[in-house]
Amino acid sequence: MAFFTKKEAVPPVAPEQLPKHVGFIMDGNGRWAKKRGMPRGFGHIEGGKVYKKIMTYCRDIGIPYASFYVFSTENWSRSQEEINGIFKLMREYLDDVQSFKHEGVRWLVVGDKSKFPQDIQERMTKLEEETRDNDRLTSIMCCNYGGRNELAHSAREIAELVKKGELEPEDITEDTINAHLYTAGIPDVDLVIRPSGELRLSNFLIWQCAYAEYYFTNILWPDFTTDDLDKALIDFAGRGRRFGGAE
Ligand code: FPP
Repeated sequence: MAFFTKKEAVPPVAPEQLPKHVGFIMDGNGRWAKKRGMPRGFGHIEGGKVYKKIMTYCRDIGIPYASFYVFSTENWSRSQEEINGIFKLMREYLDDVQSFKHEGVRWLVVGDKSKFPQDIQERMTKLEEETRDNDRLTSIMCCNYGGRNELAHSAREIAELVKKGELEPEDITEDTINAHLYTAGIPDVDLVIRPSGELRLSNFLIWQCAYAEYYFTNILWPDFTTDDLDKALIDFAGRGRRFGGAE
């Protein structure tokens, strides 16, 4: 099935005022389900539908990169039932190769994939390979992702190069660390959107968000709409970003 956003996809601000990279912390699924007397997994199912709507809208209005926090390194502490429900959803989206492939979406999984069941790892690799030439939107899926874990991963890779004599410690720069992150080659996050009323980053793309703007809303992720995204984008366009410089 092709992805279309319901309303005509017109960016709420001038194209040059749009962020290049938006990060979404898809929070509040559990509370959304609880409010309806339903199991937490029901919230994740609805959250998955919202992922697709928002991802598609980002593509249609011309945002080139969108990151989504799907499963954190801390989420393994949830019940096996809830984890299995999230795995089931992951399989569904990962199997939707055809629609992603023909809709211009490049899927990228960042995080330590090795902890996922073998079939999920294979599906991830397949979807990444099948969509690698798409260039309208890169949908970065943070799976078993943690910012600190990613920095440790980058440090280990760099240490190996030093051990082999291929790199001198004094030549390690911010660019070196960046080049060994899971997100190497992806621009920094410009705007982080966290629904559900929590005011935290929760280990999400901590290096990449160093100069990001933040937008918090009390809406729970399953209720988050393209109109809510428009509000965040309008807010973002009004911020004065100085990246540490003076006005
Ligand atoms: C956080 O809400 C959400 C998660 C840990 C899971 C996010 C997963 C999805 C939205 C499913 C989408 C899957 C794919 C592959 C697109 P929470 O459970 O922490 O909510 P709470 O804070 O209300 O308990």
